[in-house]
Amino acid sequence: MKKRDYLTGFELSAAQTLELIEEALVQKKETAQGKLRPALAGKNFALIFEKHSTRTRVSFEAGLTQLGASTIFLAPNDTQIARGETPADSARVLSEYVDGIVVRTYAHARVEEIAANASVPVINGLTDLHHPCQALADFLTMREHYGTLDGLKLAYLGDGNNVLHSLLIVGALVGVDVSAACPEGYRPDSGILEQARVSAQESSARIHVTEDAAEACAGAHAVYTDVWASMGQEDENERRQKALAPYQVNEEVFRAAHEDAVFMHCLPAHRGEEVTADVIDGPRSVVFTQAGNRLHAQKILLQILAGGNDGA
Ligand code: CP
Ligand code: NVA
Repeated sequence: MKKRDYLTGFELSAAQTLELIEEALVQKKETAQGKLRPALAGKNFALIFEKHSTRTRVSFEAGLTQLGASTIFLAPNDTQIARGETPADSARVLSEYVDGIVVRTYAHARVEEIAANASVPVINGLTDLHHPCQALADFLTMREHYGTLDGLKLAYLGDGNNVLHSLLIVGALVGVDVSAACPEGYRPDSGILEQARVSAQESSARIHVTEDAAEACAGAHAVYTDVWASMGQEDENERRQKALAPYQVNEEVFRAAHEDAVFMHCLPAHRGEEVTADVIDGPRSVVFTQAGNRLHAQKILLQILAGGNDGA
């Protein structure tokens, strides 16, 4: 059987993605009752992280432990990759030892190279272009909060970055409208936007990008934002602060949204920049549920890719 990776979100069908979300809800309840599934007992996973992480690292390590697997964390400077061994050679070598690899890196081509050369499943734990595991947890959070994904709309304000790309792709798959407001120069990648639009034709989700924050937020059930300078863009911080300031999520922004709209953020957050403290720390905010749901969504993903569950 061909091994399966999860690099952009498109590797699972719409039906599989929706099923993953439902399964994650079931397993979340089981976990709260202390019932753990040893679905990956005896397996080992390597985590190659070339950027900082709190949520992704800990949710994968904790999730794999709950599934009975063990993990080997490979920090940026500890391996021969840092001394120039190619990602391709490293992927082939690691495949001799482990049953799956989670990668967080800069260029998306690097995770693609690892996946192309590994004989075990490779999961993208964030690249400059995509963060699909985050989007799985985000739509799980909306499903959990509203009891359904049908008829929901997510508005995203700010930088058209990796997190937005994954929201567009996974939103299109699961049939949630995604409306993004981004200024000129900070719009999402046009190729990814087009792929999401094509995929949305199947689910009837509406994928929309505008420069007008109020237009994006109109009737939205969730208002989402992310940092204005992602990891690797620290040098551009000053320019980004100026360009993205009009897209700050504050109470005013929620006027256009659905009256019960929630606030979402992948975290880490910068209070006073992309979101005000009163919003992220206020009653609308679901950011910590969202962070917690990384664990539950990824546990099902791991079982689909590495546990013999075909995710059908
Ligand atoms: N949201 C997210 O991926 O957080 P970390 O950078 O802490 O992993
Ligand atoms: N866009 C952010 C997300 C962090 C989880 C970054 O890439 O730094």
